[in-house]
Amino acid sequence: MKGSRTTGDISKCRRGVVHCFVIEECMLAGREYSWVECPSHGGLHMRELAPDTVFADIENALTIHVDQLKRSRMLGRGAFGFVFRATLRQPNGELCEVAQKMLEPVDPGPGGRASALAAYKAAADKWKRDSLEFACRAYCTSRQELSLLSRMKHQNVIGLVGMCTFPLSLVVELAPLGALNQLLASHRKAGTKLSLGVIKESAVQVARALEYLHSAHIIYRDLKSENVLGWRFPAPFSPQTDVLLKLGDYGISRSVLPSGGAKGFGGTEGFMAPEIVRFNGEEEYTQKVDCFSFGMFLYDFSR
Ligand SMILES: Nc1ncnc2c1ncn2[C@@H]1O[C@H](COP(=O)(O)OP(=O)(O)O)[C@@H](O)[C@H]1O
Ligand SMILES: [Mg+2]
Repeated sequence: MKGSRTTGDISKCRRGVVHCFVIEECMLAGREYSWVECPSHGGLHMRELAPDTVFADIENALTIHVDQLKRSRMLGRGAFGFVFRATLRQPNGELCEVAQKMLEPVDPGPGGRASALAAYKAAADKWKRDSLEFACRAYCTSRQELSLLSRMKHQNVIGLVGMCTFPLSLVVELAPLGALNQLLASHRKAGTKLSLGVIKESAVQVARALEYLHSAHIIYRDLKSENVLGWRFPAPFSPQTDVLLKLGDYGISRSVLPSGGAKGFGGTEGFMAPEIVRFNGEEEYTQKVDCFSFGMFLYDFSR
């Protein structure tokens, strides 16, 4: 519903008349037009009815308006949408380079590759066909990443800059070298081997990130080189040995109770711990699932 024919007032509730909205309906309305029509009270803005679905609870410092961002080239493809490089104009007028991770299909623009355009069209079609399901999944993922990233501060964990509600996206620090899988692929292509020191330092930095997450009772669940981002890493044939890597992508991480574990099927084939795969995620598992993925992550270095 685009806007509403009538404007309601939730405080003027007719006695005994309660109309219920399912939360999925609110998430969809929050993403689309921000209004729902209540048969008893007329048009209600989601800010009144379900403020979290329009991110009204997010602190101002984290809220980024689309006009503050100037999008440039595509950096990668995510499960929900593309990740773009962008220039952010901060409230004090300063400019900084960031990565904008779209959580909904966004046109890659005229400079985009044909494959990216095809992927965008296919995703946009799927969203149109099943807008309720996709709006809910995008909302839950954005909340998930936002709530974890906003409380983490560690030299090997990507820093959150803020979020944009339209298009629904997270804005994070830009990794100048991109994802580690691409860095390793460039070494394989060039036929160069990484020094033991670089491999060791990379492993230590990722282990420190995991240690930090585990001490905060977070199971990462998706450790693989695509989710490790590079700030400093030797290029093929470079004598450089300096390494700075950070763990990004908290889309499927889980916060758990200090005493508890998590359930649910999530991760990437080949990196997922056997206890997740064997029971289809229906049995409880612990932070140890990340240790399994860490082993597979190390294996990536020796391929
Ligand atoms: N901050 C960033 N800086 C540079 N590239 C990034 C950044 N974040 C993501 N990317 C690129 O986009 C890809 C997908 O991002 P990711 O957050 O892993 O999305 P998804 O949750 O859908 O897997 C990454 O593998 C990487 O190539
Ligand atoms: Mg990822």
